[in-house]
Amino acid sequence: METTNANKIALAVLGALLGTMALGVFSSAVFAPEKAAKPGYALAGGEATAAPAAAAPAAPEVPLPALLAKADAAKGQTDVKVCEACHNFDKGGGAKVGPPLWGVVGRPIASVAGFSYSDALKAVGGDWTYEKLNQWITKPSAMAAGTKMAFPGEAEATKRADILAFLQKQSDNPVPFPK
Ligand code: HEC
Repeated sequence: METTNANKIALAVLGALLGTMALGVFSSAVFAPEKAAKPGYALAGGEATAAPAAAAPAAPEVPLPALLAKADAAKGQTDVKVCEACHNFDKGGGAKVGPPLWGVVGRPIASVAGFSYSDALKAVGGDWTYEKLNQWITKPSAMAAGTKMAFPGEAEATKRADILAFLQKQSDNPVPFPK
């Protein structure tokens, strides 16, 4: 007796659920055509605006001096959060996974005493200019294949310029931007 009643109740509940579902299917079938009409028009508008956006990458690359002239060191300070997992930017800061970066602009590449650089970076030679730092941050592995710096790179040129503007300030003798 008890189980039969329970089964009846369960069936009633199931029936109600199925009814609701059926209603949902039915109502969406009724209302769907009306809804579909609007996204259709919106898409047509979207295609029209997509055309000029697609043309944008064809624009010539902005040269680094022009980017640096407009760079924002405060934004750069936020952008280097990703670097801070491995680098110290403060004066007197020690090595982390990567070498300390206070005064890195103008410094000979791979020159922090006691830091175990990769042979790949040691082989680059010369000093860290803004151009070289820009190239490095774009894609470290492209500049020094086999580098220990496990950072894929920053693809956005304006972000890199902001980072360089921040690096300029992390120095006792800030190196002027190239003209
Ligand atoms: C996952 C850790 C890691 C991250 C993230 C990282 N670096 Fe590095 N970085 C390293 C290591 C390790 C080296 C040493 C590379 C070598 O010896 O090949 C290095 C080297 C460098 C050097 C060369 C320094 C010198 O003394 O010659 C610069 C400049 C540098 N990183 C800048 C950056 C900047 C800017 C960022 C953020 C945009 C960044 N790194 C993000 C680990 C990291």
